[in-house]
Amino acid sequence: MAMLGHEGERDPVDTRLALKLYEEYKTFFKNAERTRRWNVFDDIPWDKIRKDVPEELALVVETFCAVEAYLPDYVSGGLALVRPYMGSLWFQTNWGYEESKHALSLQEFLLQSGARTDEQMVDLQNKLWAGQRWTPLFQTGRQMTIYGAIQEQATFVFYVRQRERAKELGHETLATIFDFIARDEVAHAHFYEGVVKVLLEQDREGTLRDIATVTRDFKMPAYDLVPDYDERVLVMRELAGMDRDMFFQKVYFPVLKAIGIGRNDVVQAMARQRREAQPSAE
Ligand SMILES: [Fe+2]
Ligand SMILES: [Fe+2]
Repeated sequence: MAMLGHEGERDPVDTRLALKLYEEYKTFFKNAERTRRWNVFDDIPWDKIRKDVPEELALVVETFCAVEAYLPDYVSGGLALVRPYMGSLWFQTNWGYEESKHALSLQEFLLQSGARTDEQMVDLQNKLWAGQRWTPLFQTGRQMTIYGAIQEQATFVFYVRQRERAKELGHETLATIFDFIARDEVAHAHFYEGVVKVLLEQDREGTLRDIATVTRDFKMPAYDLVPDYDERVLVMRELAGMDRDMFFQKVYFPVLKAIGIGRNDVVQAMARQRREAQPSAE
């Protein structure tokens, strides 16, 4: 099959698959337009912003902001992988718009609260662009779609945790920003889950093999590219931290459930992969 397939071949696009992806996108976009649009300038209570942001909280916001700042790399990498599929392609472009709002609102929070100066923001941007570029962790559209489902769900869980933390600390403006972002992230996860379901119907074994690959090699995007990562990581672990157990309970298992496969399916796919990787012993 074409580029969403494991081999990344450039076969002509399968009509049934193309139409199903188009339907997934339409559903996603319709729901976004009707129930999820928000305005960075009008919907966030900027007038209630507090100027006493604890440094740990500022560091979390800044780190999220930096991770979101790799947007050009995410968009170009993602678009290249799904190029022949209108549904996935339009999703990626719309996704880029939504993610840019995340970065913008977080950045505005840092500036308007006084937690960071204009100079500090520009300095961070310069460091980001002087550093390494982000490149996709996986080589096919199908693998990156599976990755997207898990990664967006993980990001959703991060932002929900941070929303609760901001509320506890009485930072209502920031809690509202995190709330809007979290709603977007979970919608992104749902889109990718829908696509994975379509891909499972189309090629169950190949898709399960890719789920096994992504499970084995999963890591969150770009955190290791962000400047001063070592200093951030301690704070991030403590505040945004997600241990293994939480990752499985709140992220990985819910994604498997949403795409309608069991843990055993993944375990078996992993075992199959290991057998295939070993030279036959006869
Ligand atoms: Fe985001
Ligand atoms: Fe997202």
